[in-house]
Amino acid sequence: MISGHVFIATSLDGYISRKDGGIDWLLSRGDPTEDLGYESFIESMDGIVMGRGTYEKVTSFETWPYTKPVVVLSQSLSQSSLPDNLRGKVRLMNLSPKDVMNLLTSEGWSKVYVDGGQVIQSFLRDDLIDDIVITVLPVLIGSGRTLFGSLNADVPVRHMRTTCFPSGLVQSVYKLK
Ligand SMILES: NC(=O)c1ccc[n+]([C@@H]2O[C@H](COP(=O)([O-])OP(=O)(O)OC[C@H]3O[C@@H](n4cnc5c(N)ncnc54)[C@H](OP(=O)(O)O)[C@@H]3O)[C@@H](O)[C@H]2O)c1
Repeated sequence: MISGHVFIATSLDGYISRKDGGIDWLLSRGDPTEDLGYESFIESMDGIVMGRGTYEKVTSFETWPYTKPVVVLSQSLSQSSLPDNLRGKVRLMNLSPKDVMNLLTSEGWSKVYVDGGQVIQSFLRDDLIDDIVITVLPVLIGSGRTLFGSLNADVPVRHMRTTCFPSGLVQSVYKLK
Protein backbone atom coordinates (compact mmCIF):
# COMPACT_ATOMS: atom_id res chain seq x y z
CA MET A 1 0.00 0.00 0.00
CA ILE A 2 1.25 3.48 -0.84
CA SER A 3 1.50 5.89 2.10
CA GLY A 4 1.77 9.65 2.52
CA HIS A 5 4.20 11.25 4.96
CA VAL A 6 4.52 14.83 6.14
CA PHE A 7 7.73 16.47 7.38
CA ILE A 8 7.15 20.16 7.98
CA ALA A 9 8.08 23.14 10.13
CA THR A 10 5.72 25.69 11.64
CA SER A 11 6.00 28.85 13.68
CA LEU A 12 4.86 28.54 17.30
CA ASP A 13 1.56 30.10 16.20
CA GLY A 14 1.04 27.40 13.59
CA TYR A 15 2.02 28.97 10.27
CA ILE A 16 4.07 27.34 7.52
CA SER A 17 4.76 30.63 5.74
CA ARG A 18 3.83 34.28 5.80
CA LYS A 19 0.74 35.34 3.83
CA ASP A 20 2.95 36.16 0.85
CA GLY A 21 4.67 32.78 1.08
CA GLY A 22 7.74 34.15 2.88
CA ILE A 23 9.77 31.67 4.90
CA ASP A 24 12.61 33.99 5.97
CA TRP A 25 11.72 33.23 9.62
CA LEU A 26 12.25 29.54 8.87
CA LEU A 27 15.48 29.82 6.92
CA SER A 28 17.13 32.11 9.48
CA ARG A 29 16.11 30.30 12.68
CA GLY A 30 17.73 27.51 14.64
CA ASP A 31 21.13 25.90 14.36
CA PRO A 32 21.61 24.73 10.74
CA THR A 33 24.00 21.98 11.91
CA GLU A 34 21.31 20.40 14.10
CA ASP A 35 20.18 17.06 12.68
CA LEU A 36 16.39 17.23 12.56
CA GLY A 37 16.17 13.94 10.67
CA TYR A 38 15.25 15.48 7.32
CA GLU A 39 17.98 13.72 5.34
CA SER A 40 17.07 10.25 6.59
CA PHE A 41 13.37 11.05 6.13
CA ILE A 42 13.68 12.11 2.51
CA GLU A 43 16.08 9.26 1.76
CA SER A 44 13.32 6.83 2.77
CA MET A 45 10.80 8.37 0.34
CA ASP A 46 10.24 7.42 -3.31
CA GLY A 47 9.45 10.99 -4.21
CA ILE A 48 7.62 14.19 -3.32
CA VAL A 49 4.12 15.47 -4.11
CA MET A 50 3.78 19.21 -3.52
CA GLY A 51 1.41 22.04 -4.31
CA ARG A 52 2.07 24.84 -6.75
CA GLY A 53 2.62 27.26 -3.85
CA THR A 54 5.50 25.23 -2.51
CA TYR A 55 6.90 24.60 -5.99
CA GLU A 56 6.94 28.32 -6.73
CA LYS A 57 8.79 29.05 -3.50
CA VAL A 58 11.36 26.32 -4.14
CA THR A 59 12.01 27.55 -7.68
CA SER A 60 13.02 30.90 -6.17
CA PHE A 61 15.96 29.17 -4.45
CA GLU A 62 19.36 29.33 -6.15
CA THR A 63 19.46 25.60 -6.74
CA TRP A 64 16.86 22.85 -7.01
CA PRO A 65 17.16 21.07 -3.65
CA TYR A 66 15.69 17.65 -4.48
CA THR A 67 17.31 14.54 -5.88
CA LYS A 68 14.06 12.53 -5.69
CA PRO A 69 11.34 12.86 -8.33
CA VAL A 70 8.84 15.65 -7.70
CA VAL A 71 5.17 15.82 -8.66
CA VAL A 72 3.58 19.28 -8.56
CA LEU A 73 -0.20 19.47 -8.24
CA SER A 74 -1.66 22.40 -10.14
CA GLN A 75 -4.63 23.33 -12.21
CA SER A 76 -2.97 26.50 -13.47
CA LEU A 77 0.51 25.32 -14.54
CA SER A 78 1.21 23.06 -17.49
CA GLN A 79 4.18 20.85 -18.31
CA SER A 80 5.30 23.37 -20.93
CA SER A 81 5.76 26.02 -18.21
CA LEU A 82 8.58 24.01 -16.63
CA PRO A 83 12.04 25.52 -17.01
CA ASP A 84 14.49 23.37 -18.99
CA ASN A 85 16.59 22.49 -15.93
CA LEU A 86 13.57 20.84 -14.25
CA ARG A 87 12.48 18.67 -17.16
CA GLY A 88 12.84 15.03 -16.11
CA LYS A 89 12.89 16.06 -12.43
CA VAL A 90 9.40 17.55 -12.06
CA ARG A 91 6.03 16.41 -13.37
CA LEU A 92 2.93 18.57 -13.24
CA MET A 93 -0.35 16.83 -12.49
CA ASN A 94 -3.91 18.03 -12.29
CA LEU A 95 -5.42 15.09 -10.40
CA SER A 96 -7.24 14.49 -7.14
CA PRO A 97 -5.10 13.24 -4.23
CA LYS A 98 -6.53 9.71 -4.59
CA ASP A 99 -5.86 9.62 -8.32
CA VAL A 100 -2.29 10.86 -7.79
CA MET A 101 -1.65 8.13 -5.24
CA ASN A 102 -3.18 5.49 -7.53
CA LEU A 103 -1.01 6.64 -10.43
CA LEU A 104 2.15 6.65 -8.30
CA THR A 105 1.27 3.19 -6.97
CA SER A 106 1.07 1.94 -10.55
CA GLU A 107 4.58 3.36 -11.07
CA GLY A 108 5.93 1.44 -8.08
CA TRP A 109 6.08 4.23 -5.49
CA SER A 110 5.31 3.17 -1.92
CA LYS A 111 6.27 6.17 0.25
CA VAL A 112 5.34 9.71 -0.71
CA TYR A 113 6.55 12.92 0.93
CA VAL A 114 3.48 15.19 0.82
CA ASP A 115 4.32 18.90 1.06
CA GLY A 116 2.53 22.26 0.98
CA GLY A 117 -0.22 23.41 3.31
CA GLN A 118 -3.20 23.10 0.98
CA VAL A 119 -2.02 19.83 -0.49
CA ILE A 120 -1.41 18.32 2.95
CA GLN A 121 -4.91 19.44 3.98
CA SER A 122 -6.48 17.77 0.93
CA PHE A 123 -4.52 14.55 1.51
CA LEU A 124 -5.63 14.56 5.16
CA ARG A 125 -9.26 14.94 4.12
CA ASP A 126 -8.87 11.88 1.87
CA ASP A 127 -7.17 9.83 4.61
CA LEU A 128 -3.92 9.53 2.65
CA ILE A 129 -1.46 10.60 5.36
CA ASP A 130 0.18 7.97 7.58
CA ASP A 131 2.34 10.16 9.77
CA ILE A 132 3.32 13.74 10.42
CA VAL A 133 6.60 15.12 11.74
CA ILE A 134 6.14 18.73 12.84
CA THR A 135 9.08 20.86 13.91
CA VAL A 136 7.93 23.96 15.79
CA LEU A 137 10.21 26.99 15.70
CA PRO A 138 10.37 29.33 18.67
CA VAL A 139 8.94 32.33 16.84
CA LEU A 140 5.53 33.98 16.49
CA ILE A 141 4.87 35.45 13.05
CA GLY A 142 1.31 36.64 13.69
CA SER A 143 -0.33 35.64 10.41
CA GLY A 144 0.29 33.48 7.39
CA ARG A 145 -0.62 30.26 5.63
CA THR A 146 -1.74 27.48 7.92
CA LEU A 147 -0.72 23.84 8.02
CA PHE A 148 -4.13 22.52 8.99
CA GLY A 149 -7.58 23.48 7.76
CA SER A 150 -11.14 22.26 7.45
CA LEU A 151 -11.90 18.54 7.67
CA ASN A 152 -14.88 16.36 6.83
CA ALA A 153 -14.54 14.59 10.19
CA ASP A 154 -12.21 14.53 13.18
CA VAL A 155 -8.87 12.85 12.54
CA PRO A 156 -7.57 11.02 15.60
CA VAL A 157 -3.78 10.98 15.84
CA ARG A 158 -1.34 9.12 18.09
CA HIS A 159 1.53 11.05 19.60
CA MET A 160 4.69 8.99 19.18
CA ARG A 161 7.44 11.21 20.56
CA THR A 162 8.64 14.76 21.05
CA THR A 163 12.26 15.87 20.86
CA CYS A 164 13.53 19.21 22.15
CA PHE A 165 16.60 20.55 20.37
CA PRO A 166 19.16 22.86 22.01
CA SER A 167 18.29 25.66 19.55
CA GLY A 168 14.70 25.70 20.89
CA LEU A 169 13.12 23.70 18.08
CA VAL A 170 10.54 21.16 19.27
CA GLN A 171 9.80 18.23 16.99
CA SER A 172 6.81 15.94 17.44
CA VAL A 173 5.88 12.80 15.55
CA TYR A 174 2.24 11.76 15.11
CA LYS A 175 0.84 8.62 13.54
CA LEU A 176 -2.54 8.68 11.85
CA LYS A 177 -2.73 5.00 10.89
N1 LIG B 1 7.24 25.52 6.81
C1 LIG B 1 7.50 24.51 6.00
O1 LIG B 1 8.14 23.50 6.37
C2 LIG B 1 6.94 24.57 4.61
C3 LIG B 1 6.82 23.39 3.86
C4 LIG B 1 6.25 23.47 2.60
C5 LIG B 1 5.84 24.68 2.10
N2 LIG B 1 6.01 25.79 2.84
C6 LIG B 1 5.56 27.08 2.33
O2 LIG B 1 4.15 27.07 2.21
C7 LIG B 1 3.77 27.87 1.10
C8 LIG B 1 2.89 27.05 0.17
O3 LIG B 1 1.84 26.41 0.87
P1 LIG B 1 0.33 26.61 0.41
O4 LIG B 1 -0.55 26.03 1.48
O5 LIG B 1 0.11 28.00 0.01
O6 LIG B 1 0.23 25.80 -0.90
P2 LIG B 1 0.58 24.40 -1.58
O7 LIG B 1 -0.18 23.28 -0.98
O8 LIG B 1 2.05 24.26 -1.76
O9 LIG B 1 -0.02 24.74 -3.04
C9 LIG B 1 -1.40 24.98 -3.19
C10 LIG B 1 -1.73 25.01 -4.66
O10 LIG B 1 -1.52 23.71 -5.22
C11 LIG B 1 -2.49 23.51 -6.25
N3 LIG B 1 -3.21 22.26 -6.02
C12 LIG B 1 -3.36 21.28 -6.94
N4 LIG B 1 -4.00 20.24 -6.47
C13 LIG B 1 -4.26 20.49 -5.22
C14 LIG B 1 -4.88 19.75 -4.23
N5 LIG B 1 -5.34 18.49 -4.42
N6 LIG B 1 -5.01 20.31 -3.04
C15 LIG B 1 -4.56 21.54 -2.83
N7 LIG B 1 -3.93 22.30 -3.75
C16 LIG B 1 -3.78 21.77 -4.95
C17 LIG B 1 -3.36 24.72 -6.31
O11 LIG B 1 -2.73 25.55 -7.28
P3 LIG B 1 -3.38 25.88 -8.72
O12 LIG B 1 -4.07 27.17 -8.54
O13 LIG B 1 -2.21 25.97 -9.64
O14 LIG B 1 -4.31 24.76 -9.07
C18 LIG B 1 -3.17 25.36 -4.95
O15 LIG B 1 -3.34 26.75 -4.97
C19 LIG B 1 5.05 28.31 0.40
O16 LIG B 1 5.36 29.62 0.82
C20 LIG B 1 6.09 27.35 0.94
O17 LIG B 1 7.37 27.91 1.00
C21 LIG B 1 6.53 25.76 4.08
